[in-house]
Amino acid sequence: MLSIVVGGFFGDEGKGKIVAYLGLADKPAIAVRCGAINAGHTVTYNGRKWKLRIVPSAFISRNIELLIAPGALIRLDVLFKEIDETGTKCRLFLDKHTGVIELCHVESERYNSFLAGKIGSTLQGVGAAMADRVLRKLRLAYEFDELKGMVKNVPDTVNEALDKDHDVIIEGTQGTFLSLYHGTYPYVTSRDTTASAFASEVGVGPKRVDEVIVVFKAYVTRVGSGPLDGELSFDEIVRRRWCEKATVTGRVRRAAPFNIELAKKATILNSATQAAITKLDILFPETQGVTEWGKLPYKVRKWIENIEDAINTPVTLIGTGEDVKHIIDRRRELGFLRR
Ligand code: IMP
Ligand code: MG
Repeated sequence: MLSIVVGGFFGDEGKGKIVAYLGLADKPAIAVRCGAINAGHTVTYNGRKWKLRIVPSAFISRNIELLIAPGALIRLDVLFKEIDETGTKCRLFLDKHTGVIELCHVESERYNSFLAGKIGSTLQGVGAAMADRVLRKLRLAYEFDELKGMVKNVPDTVNEALDKDHDVIIEGTQGTFLSLYHGTYPYVTSRDTTASAFASEVGVGPKRVDEVIVVFKAYVTRVGSGPLDGELSFDEIVRRRWCEKATVTGRVRRAAPFNIELAKKATILNSATQAAITKLDILFPETQGVTEWGKLPYKVRKWIENIEDAINTPVTLIGTGEDVKHIIDRRRELGFLRR
């Protein structure tokens, strides 16, 4: 079975936690990371916290093979640092076509006033490397001696695993409305960030996809520039305890209440079969650490059911705290689990 996890808003919805949970709960054979090192995914598990920019978030489950998509972009220093921090040296592989961001890309963005000023880019060199890739001059993984022994054919590995009926999870990055095609252009990132794009980044066709899980946070945040309907003042963000700092850049995230219209649009653009909602405990503190649907207060269940009705899609996973284990998994009761 192939599942794709995507962000439903502007990134930072908590995809890392959801993917890490699915790794532990479902023990897929393979987890593939897409996107690039501008996307930070946070995993908190058993008192430890990892801020991942390239290693798949499902790494906490020990036997999963970890792959980086041919459509992804790495930086060598970021990759090796994270492999060390996660202890994943022997089970992490890249595709020979995975792109490599070099110093020249980072430098060229740093002095680009359009990206730094108007767009509020993370300035990690990702856009510059993508531009070089389109111009067919970006260097790819197979050209680097440092990566020898870590290169594997990712599309073949994934498609063969699916032929054998093994489970595979694809970890998308950022959010639907940061998509180069479907987002709030020009305030977007340098790639499409919808489920179809992540399937393409990995090298699996649309007919192979079984589940698309769109991840929303209980409120909306956005870093960098661009429209944000219902945006709250900084004082109000602090008062509601919605204040967050960006994983990669450390910037304070802008925030607004949950946006049903965006959620509907994201569900359609990704053809989501399931939705996840994270940080429920920030909106409703009494839900902190709850792991059973029936133990949620009535008004909270109603709040979630209203969203389900609006997006016409079941909310199967609900985050109630930072730790990967703080989650309500309704997939069995809603008929989503085969095994
Ligand atoms: P860039 O992709 O780094 O050039 O940034 C373009 C826009 O996308 C900026 O507003 C960034 O803050 C935003 N962005 C890029 N990656 C992420 C992410 O992983 N999470 C949240 N925002 C992101
Ligand atoms: Mg993030």
